[in-house]
Amino acid sequence: MIPKKIFQRIWAIAGAVSVRSKILGIVLGFIILLGVGVTIQSRYALTATMTTQLEEQSVSVSRDLAARSTDLILLNDLLGLHDLLDETLANNPSVRYAFMMDAQGQVIAHTFQGGFPLDLLSINAVRADEHHHTVLIKTDEGHVWDTAVPILDGKVGTVRIGLSDETMQAALSTLTAQLLLTIVLVSAAGILVAVFLTWILTRPILSLVHATQLVAKGDFSPRVLRWADDEIGDLADAFNAMTEELARTDELRRERESLRRQLLEKVITTQEDERRRIARELHDSTSQNLTSLIVGLRIMETNCAQCAAQSKATDLRQVASKTLDEVHDLSMRLRPRALDDLGLAAALERLVSEWQTRYKIPVDVIIHLSERLPGDVETALYRIVQETLTNIGRHAKSKSASILIEKHGDTVRAIVEDDGIGFDVNTNYGERHLGLLGMRERAELLNGTLTIESTPERGTSIFIEIPLTLHSVVGEN
Ligand SMILES: Nc1ncnc2c1ncn2[C@@H]1O[C@H](COP(=O)(O)OP(=O)(O)O)[C@@H](O)[C@H]1O
Ligand SMILES: [Mg+2]
Repeated sequence: MIPKKIFQRIWAIAGAVSVRSKILGIVLGFIILLGVGVTIQSRYALTATMTTQLEEQSVSVSRDLAARSTDLILLNDLLGLHDLLDETLANNPSVRYAFMMDAQGQVIAHTFQGGFPLDLLSINAVRADEHHHTVLIKTDEGHVWDTAVPILDGKVGTVRIGLSDETMQAALSTLTAQLLLTIVLVSAAGILVAVFLTWILTRPILSLVHATQLVAKGDFSPRVLRWADDEIGDLADAFNAMTEELARTDELRRERESLRRQLLEKVITTQEDERRRIARELHDSTSQNLTSLIVGLRIMETNCAQCAAQSKATDLRQVASKTLDEVHDLSMRLRPRALDDLGLAAALERLVSEWQTRYKIPVDVIIHLSERLPGDVETALYRIVQETLTNIGRHAKSKSASILIEKHGDTVRAIVEDDGIGFDVNTNYGERHLGLLGMRERAELLNGTLTIESTPERGTSIFIEIPLTLHSVVGEN
């Protein structure tokens, strides 16, 4: 449990750094670990060897001194003894001091410049039957091996020398310094190798990342280079195959979308044209005929007062009048002439007044348009407002509604609001309810947008924005 947590924490730190830092960390970590290990190991081995050597040297030097001093002591040649000690010191740089004692333990010659340190006497002693006796003295300046050797089994005296480990320490320091220098040099080389290695490794990955970001933004054109014949190379190939496929699919989708738009445009235009034609036909021909019929019937009525056909003529005239009204109504709903002749504002005023009479809901209409809009924009806005009003009348149960249309720079904005029951704008109402969908299509065909905001029990707002520069004028006059 705890190791897992520790591992997670380590991974949280190690995993968060870049690949370069990871490789650098691994390479440097190994070099330093190896270097430190080798240094410790070498120091340990060297210390052991040199310690043995020093001990042996200490014994051999003191034994040699003992052998050579026997005669001089016996002859009481103090000068010779001093010379011998000086020579020993000169020939053996490790020897710190040397001195001789006679059989009674009196120091007869020594190498100390500033007087003999008496406490040295008690530190080491050798028995007569011993070959030699060595003790290790620890001083502030390092270790000293003090060896005592009896001269002629102790009958003549004792020789003592002190061998310092200074040379050994110096050798160890040199070795350590050299090894540390090696670690630093190898680390520097390691850093170079790691940087080069990460460059080799991350270069294709970074280009893949860059290309993927472009693909995520919808640009399927980037292709990545296959840098090497390895797994990353395979990944690059797979990525390229994927983007090619995506580009093909996207192209196909675009073609279909454009075809769909063209078809939709055509359908809408044809529908509008057809409506306009029928409305005109109804107005120009049917209405005219009906009007002539009504006029004829009226003449008949007045010309034949009291004749039997008079009441029949009155009935027929009333039917014809009603039919004329209905034809007007139908023509108006199909395509109000005002939309073509007088413009959007006038057509909407009529639409709204008719709607108000029908649904008995007050509508606040504000239209700020200084000039006429392109025909397709007027038609689209008219149809959108028409559908919105129909929806409010049929579904919203609202107490009032408002319509605002204004030109704002190069766009025309429309807002239609009600304070009715609202609805969930994310619901898919299916194929039988195409009103909202059709409204959006009409706006988008003109590169515009349509946004619906609705809050339950608060009402619905529909925002339409259509640019006046980018769209093409289709099939309108
Ligand atoms: N202003 C509105 N207030 C409340 N509900 C609405 C409003 N406009 C649309 N709706 C809801 O959205 C649905 C889909 O509308 P629409 O696509 O025009 O289809 P239809 O009017 O034929 O039902 C409607 O059935 C209605 O439930
Ligand atoms: Mg509807």
